[in-house]
Amino acid sequence: MAVYEILRLGNELLRQRAKPVPAITPNVEKLLTNLAETMYAARGVGLAAPQIGVLKRAIVVDVGEGLLALVNPEIVSREGEEVGLEGCLSIPGLEGEVPRAARVEVRAWDRYGAPTHLKAEGLLARALQHEIDHLDGILFIDRARRLFKPEEQQKI
Ligand code: NI
Repeated sequence: MAVYEILRLGNELLRQRAKPVPAITPNVEKLLTNLAETMYAARGVGLAAPQIGVLKRAIVVDVGEGLLALVNPEIVSREGEEVGLEGCLSIPGLEGEVPRAARVEVRAWDRYGAPTHLKAEGLLARALQHEIDHLDGILFIDRARRLFKPEEQQKI
């Protein structure tokens, strides 16, 4: 197991633009495996490479429908809008209501370098947009309409 430390808000690497991956190499395969193991260990539904300090365009997502490991993901179309609740493994203790496209189409490479094209809606669409934002140094707090601390709400 290679579970990495997840960088927290305030770390400058989270605000940088990640670089495209030119080819799938053993290092990239290892990165995807490490991302997945770190995401599952933290009980997250998504993780982007910059969150473990690697400025490469690679993400993993699992919203309960199986693992998606994507390299150089790009949103090629967006439809509709939905406001939903989000948190982030890099910003523990904070949640926000974030408007996102309701449906997206994403183009990427899979872990073997094969071009893949997927259509997503609901939580998967949200998670993909959240993780792809990380590759551009954008965090959900930048897009949130309202932010709150869930544990404070529970005390009321
Ligand atoms: Ni996040």
